Amino acid sequence: MDRIRLVGGNELRGEIPISGAKNAALPLMIASLLTDEPLVLHNVPRLADVKQLERIMENHGVDIAVHGRRRGEEDVGQRMTFHAADIVDTTAPYDLVSKMRASFWVIGPLLARCHEARVSLPGGCAIGTRPVDLFLYGLKALGAEIDIDEGYVVAKAPKGGLVGATISFPKVSVGATHTILMAATLARGTTIIENAAQEPEITNVAECLVAMGAKISGIGTRTLTIEGVEKLHGATVEVIPDRIETGTFAMAAAMTGGDVLLKGARPGHLQSALDILAQTGVELTEEAEGIRVRRNGNGIRPVDVDTDPFPGFPTDLQAQFMALMTMSDGVSHIRETIFENRYMHVAELVRFGADIAVNGQLATITGKSQLKGAQVMATDLRASVSLVIAGLAAKGETVVNRIYHLDRGFERLEDKLSRCGAEIERVAG
Ligand code: UD1
Repeated sequence: MDRIRLVGGNELRGEIPISGAKNAALPLMIASLLTDEPLVLHNVPRLADVKQLERIMENHGVDIAVHGRRRGEEDVGQRMTFHAADIVDTTAPYDLVSKMRASFWVIGPLLARCHEARVSLPGGCAIGTRPVDLFLYGLKALGAEIDIDEGYVVAKAPKGGLVGATISFPKVSVGATHTILMAATLARGTTIIENAAQEPEITNVAECLVAMGAKISGIGTRTLTIEGVEKLHGATVEVIPDRIETGTFAMAAAMTGGDVLLKGARPGHLQSALDILAQTGVELTEEAEGIRVRRNGNGIRPVDVDTDPFPGFPTDLQAQFMALMTMSDGVSHIRETIFENRYMHVAELVRFGADIAVNGQLATITGKSQLKGAQVMATDLRASVSLVIAGLAAKGETVVNRIYHLDRGFERLEDKLSRCGAEIERVAG
């Protein structure tokens, strides 16, 4: 298994191009199941999760093409075409779905277009129980009949297809919002989704669906209204820049000190995280090309944070922010309100010498001026990267084991960091 070896202590200086967002690329790929015409996506990141979803899409009969690079596009993601001319199989099998939770979301488009779907209950990062009750509630409201059979959700639309309904989610769910939004585009009549997720990735998908001929209003708000249409058509859509990658590198620069331009980053997509970072004493400037992050010599102030659905502080940046707080000048608190088991990085951060106490949802971090390099283990996607950025600021050598989690969600991580002066390499085997 590959490892990452790094020696901490170097400031980060230079430019980091931000990749396309994994959490937008995956549902955009899934949206291609809604039409028999090609959907062209620009700026798709080269990630293990994208590859895994490609396998699932191919199993449904989707033709996938990756287009070659164009001049002047060195730092741009892949241009890909997804063409679901004929869906040959409406089953998403366990061995494919269990590796990545988002693949469960195919249930929405399959049910809407083919009127049936048989999708394995999902797997993904082990960061909590992550049930699918909200998905099933929404699909049932659209008229679907649902059975659970040998670990599969078996869903059937009524004769003539799904029917529009008002769906009021008791809890905000990104995945359930994507799924019901996609399903409703081809339902008969009007669907209203109340308490919808407002994440920028939802907006990216909603705008893609509109480009495909869907009728959606309220995009970017808590209430989405969808008027079903008979058919969707092909479109060309760009994947938004990854706000979690942006926030991760911003925190890395905050920890190491230095001056980094995050190229292509959109401040509005992570304003809450930028506001919190500014409170820690980091200097952030919006430039035409992206966001500049600077910390020159001054200490890191402790700041308390609760994770929340967008526009709140993202749970996907919680581990990275905790790494930063281990170096603050005092005591800070983090409350994880989205997932019940998302503190697996704590035991690993403690190996760097950090002082962190967890009590239920609440973590108390007592800052230290200097972390020391350590052997650590990646446990989930975002936790893994918190170990990398802790290692960049720690004294001496760090080895991060089991980094396959990182490859699921971070494109060319070592390359991007080493170009800014970090001493970091991948060790094979
Ligand atoms: C998505 C993101 C993930 C991020 C998370 C929260 C992708 C591919 N993944 O995951 O990176 O951490 O949003 O911002 O976009 N829940 C239920 N019942 C359900 C569905 C969810 O109780 O049927 C709960 C979950 O257990 C969790 C909360 O709702 O406590 C939020 O989860 P959700 O927004 O659905 O996360 P994902 O869509 O899986």
